[in-house]
Amino acid sequence: MQEEHEIEMVTCSAPVNIAVIKYWGKSCEKKNIPLNSSISLTLNQDHLKATTTVATSKGFESDKVWLNGVKQDVVNNARLQACLNEIRSWARKQAARRKADAKELLKISQKIHIASQNNFPTAAGLASSAAGYAALVFALGQLFSIEGDLTRIARRGSGSACRSMDGGFVEWIAGTDEDDSIAKQFVPEMHWPELRVFIIVVSKKKKDIGSTGGMKNSVETSSLLQYRVSDVVPHRLTAVKTAILEHDFSAFAEICMKESNQLHAVCQDTYPPLLYMNDTSKEIVKLVHKYNDFYGSTRLAYTFDAGPNAFLFTLDPFANEVATILNETFGFNSGDKFFRGLPVKANEPLPYECETLENSVEYVICTNPGQGPKVVMDETLLSNKSGLPIFN
Ligand code: DP6
Repeated sequence: MQEEHEIEMVTCSAPVNIAVIKYWGKSCEKKNIPLNSSISLTLNQDHLKATTTVATSKGFESDKVWLNGVKQDVVNNARLQACLNEIRSWARKQAARRKADAKELLKISQKIHIASQNNFPTAAGLASSAAGYAALVFALGQLFSIEGDLTRIARRGSGSACRSMDGGFVEWIAGTDEDDSIAKQFVPEMHWPELRVFIIVVSKKKKDIGSTGGMKNSVETSSLLQYRVSDVVPHRLTAVKTAILEHDFSAFAEICMKESNQLHAVCQDTYPPLLYMNDTSKEIVKLVHKYNDFYGSTRLAYTFDAGPNAFLFTLDPFANEVATILNETFGFNSGDKFFRGLPVKANEPLPYECETLENSVEYVICTNPGQGPKVVMDETLLSNKSGLPIFN
């Protein structure tokens, strides 16, 4: 009977990140070692986050996972197994060093229950696995009081998850093996508080080809990817870091758009091609360039991951005008639910006449730079009596 045993649990939340210098391609699939280093911005958890409760008890019979309320296959999930194994082996090593008592050792051998929930569409190109694995690894780290860098364990769950383990701009240093492929904060979220990110949710649908499979095909078939890794990314990494440090938005924006364009060029160069952007995504690209051309300066930038949804970067003084243009172009008939996240005023005078493209965008989230994972005190997804999910 599970009720007879003590249940220890902890709930944590973790953010989504959006890559500015993209990760695409691995040198080791099993360990998730990337071909190149990457840099991302961590987004505000008030608007996008994964929340995860982990629990352990002598009474649990097997490791169990529920994602958004649905029970998942644990045994055949190699990435999840890798994270659990790594955490347990780390906890064991640490316990040995600390000369831990029998109770602590028993805890490490117990089974774990995990429940996780996102407040945004799963697998729609909004980095749900990054936030999910970051929340999981951070929560397990808390449960077993693990000290040290956990980004290398989050990386095993999903490569980009290691960049969701901290706030602000985060660099994932490619490294060459298990221990040196880690993520580190480059600057904290307060470094550039004027940054705004509009996430244009073009589709809530799950993508056809996931990043993992897509990357594998690209590594095997795209010659452009080889050139990108050896000749393009190293320069862009240096340049984007300088732009971030100097708050040089137009340099930052240009690199950001070129990176997105090259990622999708590599996808197109993959055989058979990977087509993640749709017609609406392409309209968004045109909209951004039209806006920048109108002002003769770069005030807005786009980036797309492995999906059709757009992430637009701008600065606070331009946010309402950008929102007005998005509302005019895509918000037709969507009512007041069109904008979510940070409040925006989408009724500024239009700088020029905008084309209307009805019903192609679901909604828009306005957000800003945010913090890394944190412990959540007032919420739990598992019952402290049964260790089973609480359905709200
Ligand atoms: C296009 O981290 O989802 O978003 O390591 O196989 O889980 P796996 O891939 P994942 O890939 C993200 C790719 C990207 C670019 C990026 O976030 O850098």
